[in-house]
Amino acid sequence: MSKLAGKTALVTGASRGIGRATALALARDGAQVLVHYSRGEQEAAAVVAEIREAGGKAEKISADLAQPDGPHQLAQGVRAIIGGRLDVLVANAGISSSTSIQDTSVEDFDRLFAINVRAPFFLVQQLRPALCTGSSIVLLSSLVAHSSIGTLSAYAATKGAIDTLVKHFATALGEHGIRVNAVAPGVVPTDMSSFTKTEAGRNFAIGMQALKRMAQPDDIGAAISFLASDAARWITGETLHVDGGSKL
Ligand SMILES: NC(=O)c1ccc[n+]([C@@H]2O[C@H](COP(=O)([O-])OP(=O)(O)OC[C@H]3O[C@@H](n4cnc5c(N)ncnc54)[C@H](OP(=O)(O)O)[C@@H]3O)[C@@H](O)[C@H]2O)c1
Repeated sequence: MSKLAGKTALVTGASRGIGRATALALARDGAQVLVHYSRGEQEAAAVVAEIREAGGKAEKISADLAQPDGPHQLAQGVRAIIGGRLDVLVANAGISSSTSIQDTSVEDFDRLFAINVRAPFFLVQQLRPALCTGSSIVLLSSLVAHSSIGTLSAYAATKGAIDTLVKHFATALGEHGIRVNAVAPGVVPTDMSSFTKTEAGRNFAIGMQALKRMAQPDDIGAAISFLASDAARWITGETLHVDGGSKL
């Protein structure tokens, strides 16, 4: 039997990149998946269609997580579709900004924290009533939370905040049987890591890694599906580094 059969899952930012691969991985493993998007309605519809064509169950759902009430609206929409029970919450939606300390504006800084930290925090708060014993939350951290690479200090700080939240959420929710973990990808060639479109960019990424190939979004999706499953039942409060051995 599929390891997530009968489970419901929400993946934020599932229209593209790592979120898309995660939605497909969870569906492949048997979950009904809510495919969240903000601007990428067509892309989200394509993910839903791919899941359904493979015999799975999926719905798309939208919310702008840069807005203060975005997580509240998304949680309301999720409850309207799945009813009272959410087994898997993957707070993946995020933005990055490669900007020097000198050139970072207050607006850029606030937007990074709004989407990457405030939204996951309030999504967990708002969906808490739907989470139950056995539910699993996975947040997205990053290699740059613990290694200084490029000019990513404000973005990196948002991921450091995620590593902190994982510990506090796991402690607070553990007594309810809810596990909370993060995955920290290295460089994954998505729209966010667009520098990987050049050979120099790919060589830079591979040069940091023990494993000498480019990551694929599904390398991350598969790890998230593992953390969501009963095989990870004794893992909580962890940030799992899924980066091909980057910066060892
Ligand atoms: N790629 C990497 O190298 C890498 C490395 C480490 C960690 N990560 C983390 O992994 C996660 C996914 O990254 P990715 O590379 O897959 O990024 P991506 O390809 O740029 O996709 C970003 C996703 O986030 C959604 N999103 C962006 N702004 C939003 C907003 N205001 N409201 C709601 N959704 C919004 C987008 O939705 P729409 O397109 O529908 O607007 C899209 O689905 C992020 O948290 C990122 O920080 C990525």
